[in-house]
This record gives sequence, C-alpha cells and structure tokens, in this order.
Amino acid sequence: MDSDTGAAMKPGEARCPGPSARDVILADGCVVPDALVTQSYTFRTDADMPYDHYTSQEFFNREMKSVWGHTWQWVCREEHMPESGDYVTYDIGPWSVILVRGEDGTVRGFQNACMHRATQFRPSETMGFAPQLRCPYHGWTWDLDGELKEVPCAWDFPHVTPDTHRLPQVRVEKWGGFLWINLDDKAPPLIEYLGVMPQHFTDAWDTGKRYVYMHVRKELPTNWKAAMEAFLEAYHVLETHNQNLPASGDANAQYDVFGDHITRFVQNIGYPSPHLVKKPSEQEIIGRLRAVADAGLTVPEGRSARSVAAEYLRQKLSAEWDFDLSGYSDAEILDSINYNVFPNANFFPGITHPMVYRFRPIGMEPGRCVFDLLFMRPLAPGADMPEPPEPIKLGEDDLVADVPGILRSLAHLFDQDVSNLRLQYRGFQASQKRGQTLGNYQEIRIRHLHEMILTYMAKYP
Ligand SMILES: [Fe+2]
Repeated sequence: MDSDTGAAMKPGEARCPGPSARDVILADGCVVPDALVTQSYTFRTDADMPYDHYTSQEFFNREMKSVWGHTWQWVCREEHMPESGDYVTYDIGPWSVILVRGEDGTVRGFQNACMHRATQFRPSETMGFAPQLRCPYHGWTWDLDGELKEVPCAWDFPHVTPDTHRLPQVRVEKWGGFLWINLDDKAPPLIEYLGVMPQHFTDAWDTGKRYVYMHVRKELPTNWKAAMEAFLEAYHVLETHNQNLPASGDANAQYDVFGDHITRFVQNIGYPSPHLVKKPSEQEIIGRLRAVADAGLTVPEGRSARSVAAEYLRQKLSAEWDFDLSGYSDAEILDSINYNVFPNANFFPGITHPMVYRFRPIGMEPGRCVFDLLFMRPLAPGADMPEPPEPIKLGEDDLVADVPGILRSLAHLFDQDVSNLRLQYRGFQASQKRGQTLGNYQEIRIRHLHEMILTYMAKYP
C-alpha cells in the first residue's frame, strides 16, 4: 500500500491529493452550469457486496420481478416512431411490450401478446408499421387504442367482448427525446422518478434536441450490472486505459449520488492523471488529447491545453454541425460526464463524450447482457430530426473498434473495458471470498446501484 490511504479521516472523507475535477473545471474560468459543480456524496458502508448479486439465478429472478417490473426504462427514441401506426417492440426478461403511435399521435404501450392464445403481435426487438394490432396466428385484431375490433368466427366466442378483451396497456412516458415504459401501473410518474435529471439536463444538455448518429448493440459475457459498472467509475483508467493518463483525469474524478435513482461522475479530459509522477507539459497534454490529437495544436504560454482544445473544438464542431457551441464551457466540450438513471440508463451531456447507454439482461440469464451504445450530436436549429440509424449488432467477441465509421480511438476504450468482463464474471463464480471490496468514494455508484436493487426487492417482494 502507498502512504496515501487517508487513514486519519473518517471513511469516505479522503480524496485524491491535488486539484479535484471540480477545482479543474472552476479553474478553466468559464461560466459553467451550477449542476456541473454541485456535489452530493455521503459515505454509506464499506461492507463487502456479495458476488451472488451477479451470478445467482435466484437473485436474478427476484431482481427481474422487483426491479425490472417496477422501474422506468427507455425503449427507443421518439423519432423511431414518428407516424401513426409506427411500432417498436421491447423485451426485458419474460416481458415483451409493443409501443404504437395512435391516430391521435399518442404513443401507447401494450403487452405484446394476443389475448386469444398469447402469440406476439410483432417479434421481439423489431420496429416498423402496424396499422392495427393483428395476431398473425388466428387474426384477432385490436385498434391502436387497444380496443378489440375483430374476432374471426365470433359466434364461437360469446364470452369475448370489447369490454372483457381490451388489450392490457403498459405505461409510456417521454423524457429527453426518449420513450420510456414502466410495467408497474402504480409507479411514480417518470418526471418524478428522474429526480435531478430534468433540472440538470436543461437546454444545452437536452438529449431531446440531439440526434443519434450511430447505434452499436453489443452482447457481453457478464451480468448486466457488472457491464454497466465498468462505466460507473474512473478508478480503472490507471490500469485499463493507461494510454490515456497524460490527458485524462482519473483519481480526481467527482462522484455524486442524487437521491434514489440518479448517480454521476465527472472526469476531466485534457488534464493529466494525478498518478503521473512527472506532470506532462500543457503541450504534451494536448498532443495526447484524443479529440484534437490530429490537429497539431500549439498551447501558447499562459494557456492550458484544455482551453486551447476546447476553443478549437467549439469552432470546428460549430461549423461542421451548423450548431452554435459558443455557450458551452471547456468542461462541457471536453469532459466525460456520466449520469446513471437507475436501473440501466446512462446519459452523457458532454459534446465530445456524447453517449447514451443502456444495459439489459438477455432473457433470464444472469451471465449475459446486451449493451446499447448511442452516439448523439446537437441538431442544427430548424433542422428535421433525422431517422435514427439501425443498430450495428456485435457479438461477444466482435470489437467495437471494427465498426465502420466509428472513431477508433474512442471505440478502442470500449474494447478495453469489455476485455475485463469475461475475466471478472468467471472470478465472481470462482472466488472463495464471495464479495467485492469497494472504494468508499470512487466506487460509491456501484454500492448505490446494489443498495437500490435491495431496496426495490424489499419494497416489491
Ligand atoms: Fe473505461
């Protein structure tokens, strides 16, 4: 152990020596949103967290019922279904839901199963046009409001009426340009569930005003939580992404828990890791800053790599995107800012780290999951929202860096993250220790995630 253990302080009080991510952001000298520099951390416990949370089928089954059956999950973008009759299906564990846009323009959700003999109206994980909900097996048909319209040989079903066989509805609400569902009719409204998100994601961060320019969907050989947790802390940057250390803060990142459903980290980009004994010069930093590494920028005396890089990107991207980025601070242009919405959604409001993630189990398997990775970009004022791209599907062994047209230096980071997951899952199964030991500060989001799962299990047994 090095000497920097913070042993003299109470648990959770110690921080990496030197400037914090917040100090770096304030030192940039830009006007920044209050949300970006607010802090919210409380020490909880340092007890080990059981590996059974990842590997046990019994725990998985309870989690499916108690967590996935009662939480808000985004299904798709609104622009996936712009017209009346457009549909999208969404599966989670045993459930399959179909979203359809009605003739009144409202999107409604229904259980994706015919009320005759249960056949799905449309296959899992598909989208397209469905002017009515017609079962492909015997032709029972409902309109887009869920009202029963047709039963072939109705004489044989005197016990079936529009009243007895109205299609069961699933709640759908909108936020951030996404359509969300909740399988629990009594769940709080989405806007309440989202806690600080609507206050933090105002105008400049509003994902409703951005469009998806790339969508990668990758299967991963681990539990959905373990996959997502690979993106909830910057502690792993030192070992997993050490090529980034000259231009990437890690140990000084900020971690926040905002109420039940929202956690966040803020990681500086264009600022060196506090682990580096020899601090790189501002010129060396800009040469290693991924988003401008090819631009050959020079940092004049008295300027920082962050300010020169952000200024360059602000001009270049404003022109390329026909979108005025002049109001965005250096931190919003450069930094990796990750908000997690319990249980499985991640939103990055930054401009050069502009992602949305979603992690879901595959079927009822604790050890496999699917990772949706959306890249977003601000929409030019007055421009029509483009049709979202089809997901590029990758198997467990396919590399994100091989996706045509992807920014390879960024994609390589995902491949580095993913490379740990199979090893970790096998270790979850093999370890005699039976629980993970978490950092009090840097891994607080992982602890919070598991605590919330246990909270939902207690609330909805
Ligand atoms: Fe990573």
